[in-house]
Order: sequence, then structure tokens, then C-alpha cells
Amino acid sequence: MKRILITGASSGIGMHLANSYLEAGWQVIACGRSLSKLQSAIKATHPALILCTFDINQRTEVINKLKEVRALDAVILNAGTCEYMDDPLSFDSALFKRVIDTNVTGTGYCLEGVLSNINQGGQLAIVSSSVTMLPLTRSEAYGASKAALDYLTRTLAIDLSPRGIAVSLIRPGFVDTALTQKNTFSMPGIISGEQACKYIMQGLEQRKLEINFPKIFFFIMKILSLLPNALWRRLAVKMIRTAE
Ligand SMILES: NC(=O)c1ccc[n+]([C@@H]2O[C@H](COP(=O)([O-])OP(=O)(O)OC[C@H]3O[C@@H](n4cnc5c(N)ncnc54)[C@H](OP(=O)(O)O)[C@@H]3O)[C@@H](O)[C@H]2O)c1
Repeated sequence: MKRILITGASSGIGMHLANSYLEAGWQVIACGRSLSKLQSAIKATHPALILCTFDINQRTEVINKLKEVRALDAVILNAGTCEYMDDPLSFDSALFKRVIDTNVTGTGYCLEGVLSNINQGGQLAIVSSSVTMLPLTRSEAYGASKAALDYLTRTLAIDLSPRGIAVSLIRPGFVDTALTQKNTFSMPGIISGEQACKYIMQGLEQRKLEINFPKIFFFIMKILSLLPNALWRRLAVKMIRTAE
């Protein structure tokens, strides 16, 4: 039986991944902060399920728990948070730190704990976001955190290749989860958690270096990202004014 570890498994994309890998016959180590939340999100009585609780901001706890989980065929580092910067003139450095701590430093703690437990020929995936394709309004903290994950993942893909570990960068567009349910703006091309899960499982099966979805949204973002910076800035400012 293959073994996969998934962080952020207590809701949204991670929850769907945990349930789908269980259905596909994998042993799943599902990680989250709250045992009761994990138990109600995932098929808690499934014999192939192991629950593991830690807050990814607590370095010692993360490393100690993850060092115990041996012989992994795949790891998906998915836990993350999103907060937007409402007023750029009163830059909220506490918010900035919260987002960077959880999304970037927390991922680093997970890597320290888990990397040496991935089998030769195994896989590592990190969940970033399509936000990294373009600078988007109010995304100073979230975008910066995910851009850091892009660089980290691409670098790991180089350095882990000689060790036989395939690395994938996952960049979802909008997915209907608790994280996006609090958004008050329109989210073009939004897909369900189940659809996101299918894209991710398919991409990992093919050991893809980058898993970008949904396809039409990715294509539009790709085209926009090819515009000269000054033109994109003018368009983005115009979009903010129209929305006001
Ligand atoms: N939804 C989207 O449109 C979208 C788009 C692009 C990228 N993403 C990325 O996809 C990933 C999953 O997001 P989601 O949409 O599924 O959101 P979600 O439903 O809010 O799930 C986030 C998961 O991360 C966990 N988490 C957050 N902070 C944590 C911490 N300090 N320690 C341990 N676990 C923590 C949460 O645990 P708790 O239940 O304990 O809070 C939860 O299980 C995130 O990295 C997000 O940035 C999402």
C-alpha cells in the first residue's frame, strides 16, 4: 500500500485529497491543527487513515511529529492561509508576518521534518497559487508568500532530482473552499474542491513539474502575464476603479 502525507487536510482542497487518496487505496497521513476537525472532515474510521495534529507555526512540534512518519511515497504540503491588505498606506506588518509565517516558514518546518522520510522514487508537492503569475490588488502578503513557495519548489525540483524525488508545484486558480468563501469580490472560473482534487491527483500521477488549473483561467492569466508591466499596472488600476 502506498503512503501519502497531506497537510491542511481538515478542510477544502486538502480534505478532498485525503478522502480521494483513501478511496484510491492509499494509506493517508492527514495533518491538521484540530483532531476533531480532521475527524469530521475525513473518513475517520477508515483503517488506512492516520491522523496527525500540529500547528505548522510551531517548529519543534512540526519537526518532531513529521520525523516519526517514515517511508512516504508522496507528500503534499498544502496547509496555508490567505489575508488581504486592505489599506496599502497603513501597511499591516502583523498581517504580513502571519501570512509569511504560515505559508513560507511553516512549509520550511514541514520540509525539515519530512524530506528525509520520502522514499527513493517518491514525490513532493507544494501548493502555491496562480496569484504568483501576476501582481494582484491587495495580495501584497499572500502573493509574496506564494511567490516564495514557487521559488522554493522550483529549487527543490533541481536539488532533489539526483535523490530520485520528483517535485511538483501546484498552482490552483479559485477553488470553492473556506478560504475563498470569505471573499467578497467576483472569482472568475471558480471550481469545486472535488474538481481541484482531480486536477492535482492527475498531475501527480504524471509526475508533472507544474500543475496549473483550471486550464482556461490559467491560459488567461498566462496571456496577461506576458503584457508589459506598465500596461498590466494600468489595466489593474482601471479594474480597481471600475469595482469601486
Ligand atoms: N481556495 C483557493 O481558491 C486556493 C487558490 C490557490 C491556492 N490555494 C491554496 O490551497 C491551500 C489549501 O487552501 P484551501 O482553499 O483548501 O483552504 P482551507 O479550506 O482554508 O484549508 C486550509 C487548510 O490549511 C490548514 N492550516 C491553516 N493554517 C494552519 C496552521 N497554522 N497549521 C496547520 N494547518 C493550518 C487549515 O487547518 P485548520 O482547519 O486548522 O484551519 C486547513 O486544513 C492553501 O495553501 C491555499 O493558499 C487555495
